[in-house]
Amino acid sequence: HPYFQYRNNVLYAEDVPLDHLAHGLGTPLYVYSRAALKAAWETYRSAIGPLPVLVCYGMKANSNLAVLKEFVRLGAGFDIVSGGELKRALAVGADPAKIVFSGVGKQVWEMRDALAAGVKCFNVESEGELRRLSDVAQEMGMRAPVSLRVNPDVDAQTHPYISTGLKENKFGIAIESALDVYLTAQALPGLEIVGVDCHIGSQLTDISPYFDALEKLLDLIGQLDQAGIRIAHLDLGGGLGIRYTDETPPSPKALLDQVFERLNARGQGHLHLILEPGRSLVGNAGVLLTTVQYLKHSDARNFAIVDAAMNDLLRPALYDAYHGVQPLRPRAGDLVEYDIVGPVCESADWLAKGRALAIQQGDVLAVESAGAYSMAMASNYNTRARAAEVMVDGSNYHVVRQRETLDDLLRGESTL
Ligand code: LLP
Repeated sequence: HPYFQYRNNVLYAEDVPLDHLAHGLGTPLYVYSRAALKAAWETYRSAIGPLPVLVCYGMKANSNLAVLKEFVRLGAGFDIVSGGELKRALAVGADPAKIVFSGVGKQVWEMRDALAAGVKCFNVESEGELRRLSDVAQEMGMRAPVSLRVNPDVDAQTHPYISTGLKENKFGIAIESALDVYLTAQALPGLEIVGVDCHIGSQLTDISPYFDALEKLLDLIGQLDQAGIRIAHLDLGGGLGIRYTDETPPSPKALLDQVFERLNARGQGHLHLILEPGRSLVGNAGVLLTTVQYLKHSDARNFAIVDAAMNDLLRPALYDAYHGVQPLRPRAGDLVEYDIVGPVCESADWLAKGRALAIQQGDVLAVESAGAYSMAMASNYNTRARAAEVMVDGSNYHVVRQRETLDDLLRGESTL
């Protein structure tokens, strides 16, 4: 990870030694690299060149305002899934004309807010939602721009919890009924059909499921065309994977080159494309710093009990996810295999298993690839305050979210 490297045996984020941040700001601490965000954006920007592609950052991956603001500066649009995410996007000055609104459960107030803001498109996931959206738009004297999120029934070959394009998933409208539902949408007075949408899963390391989905969507677009429904854009969702350990995920360039090759081959080169990448824009731009509280040895296992837990980083507990772990100041000495676990009262509270490390109590570790779905999924389980977040920028750093206080946690509660 080029923006997190050792210099003289100390791990740095860009030009900032991480132990300096850990000692000054405490742990657990999320640290992001602004240069890494820019570099990830650049992989998309350079792959796009002059092609008609809008990148809408899937902000559920990391919605810290400083991260969002950086993407606004870079010219990104946003993929939002709630009224709360809309509020965040507007708070950093995002252009509503570059916001797409996804999600299976949009409520009336969320539709109203998004229509009032003037979002580019609602990615609609059911007939009920279509009817509700038409009513809400009509009440406001507007027509809501819509795509249907089509479920193409392809196997994204990723973890079942983050695979979304199979028949049995709750997401989208089955491809077999999509034409009928488009005809319904066309007849509804408060809607204007603008696109076709899909999202087949996350952390995809193989590119072929995209093309399985694309071919099916192009067939649908052909049928729509015959029915007199013209599609302006095709949204292929997010999903490009990142390297956590030894994965070799496809690049945005590989994806885009082949997508446009196929669009052109099928006479659809005029279509505008939307992508909704989340993880691949932020995942490797962050680390989680955590301090070793205790080392504990049993017959079966060695444990390093650290001050970060599943409430800070849920991915290992929830998906068996692998995150690399590195000491900020590596020591000489014998390597011991540790399970890195947190203080929360659950056996699932682990961050990493069986890692060979030479560490002592008080050492600080960096949990890698913690820029996506990490702080964003943090909770207050065990009445633990959520971590602070820091953005490094060259040799400077900015606290971009204060550490939560215990008073924050009790606020709003009352006794009888
Ligand atoms: N668009 C839609 C409609 C989505 O549901 C998602 C992610 C994205 C875009 C962004 O996908 P990405 O490019 O990040 O793969 N918490 C899980 C990942 C859940 C993904 C949910 N949807 C994890 O930690 O691996």
